[in-house]
Amino acid sequence: MSSSEKKLDPRIGLDVGTSRIVMARRVDNEIEYRSQLNAFVRIPASPLTASVLRKEGIPHTIDGSDVVIYGDQAEKFANIFHVETRRPMQNGALNPSEPDGPAVIREIISLLIGDQKARPGEKMCVSMPGSPLGSSDDLTFHESVVRQIVTDFGYEVSTINEGLAVVYSDLAESNYTGIGVSCGGGMCNVCFAYLSVPVVSFSISQAGDFVDTNTATATGEVATRIRMFKEKDFSFNGASGDKIQRALTIYYDEVIRHLVTAMNCAFSDNRALPKLDRPVPVVLSGGSSIPRGFRERFEKALRQSAFPVPVSDVLLAADPLHSTAKGALVSLLAD
Ligand SMILES: Nc1ncnc2c1ncn2[C@@H]1O[C@H](COP(=O)(O)OP(=O)(O)O)[C@@H](O)[C@H]1O
Ligand SMILES: [Mg+2]
Repeated sequence: MSSSEKKLDPRIGLDVGTSRIVMARRVDNEIEYRSQLNAFVRIPASPLTASVLRKEGIPHTIDGSDVVIYGDQAEKFANIFHVETRRPMQNGALNPSEPDGPAVIREIISLLIGDQKARPGEKMCVSMPGSPLGSSDDLTFHESVVRQIVTDFGYEVSTINEGLAVVYSDLAESNYTGIGVSCGGGMCNVCFAYLSVPVVSFSISQAGDFVDTNTATATGEVATRIRMFKEKDFSFNGASGDKIQRALTIYYDEVIRHLVTAMNCAFSDNRALPKLDRPVPVVLSGGSSIPRGFRERFEKALRQSAFPVPVSDVLLAADPLHSTAKGALVSLLAD
């Protein structure tokens, strides 16, 4: 069947993450995902460079005498030209020291949705981080810029808290009651929902990037190389005691400690919590939940703490890199 004969549902769930932007939509009753790295490189270019990139189908824009290459291809070009990729976002929100950020995010979203431009009334739901626990950082600017980008594509925009999206994606069986945790690149987001209604949500700004940069400093490596090793070879049960593996474990444990402490702190005010008649599940998601042993390590730390909410199971999401986008889509499909 050609793609034009497929039944494409116009509703879109979008996860705008520090590390990746992920789109979810329904095609023939199955959910299709597309994702791109939320990164770019800027290199000096001649008119020849631009025409070569066009011929090769490499996503780029021309800006004065530079070419800006974005998405997954940014990493490849960063390696070839020995530069670090640049990131439109940092710690879960727009990176204030990257003025090119919003324009790059717009190009990446355009690449993901392809020819599917909105008709009037069509809906897109975008994930938003929760407020950082115990900090006055304000996410209003980030949210309004991202909303504007999506509105400019013609969509009617709604937003969903990232932790709540994980509940919508993975906790249908418990009637959307439980705690969704998304461990990404820039942040961990947590949301406790009761019968699909968010009760408590927050974020912390220690996650995968924190592990990479601290491991890089401790071992004298560059962060990109650490990340590549981590994504390919790292597990908590790794027998090899090599220096990078040890440093990764130390900083990962630090993230888990921050996360469990923050969860205890945020849930300690019992007045905010509904009276539960049974324990609730916790579901872990996001790229940083993937390494083997992470779920067990987190569960042990949570159970050893005096966590005030009774927990049944600690689960790993069915598809950790796609849960947030799926949850955003699920919130639209319920309409
Ligand atoms: N297979 C993997 N193993 C370990 N870590 C991974 C893997 N894939 C991605 N990651 C890490 O997960 C983080 C990104 O997770 P993601 O959920 O995409 O984040 P964000 O929501 O911030 O975009 C990064 O720190 C990345 O290095
Ligand atoms: Mg994400």
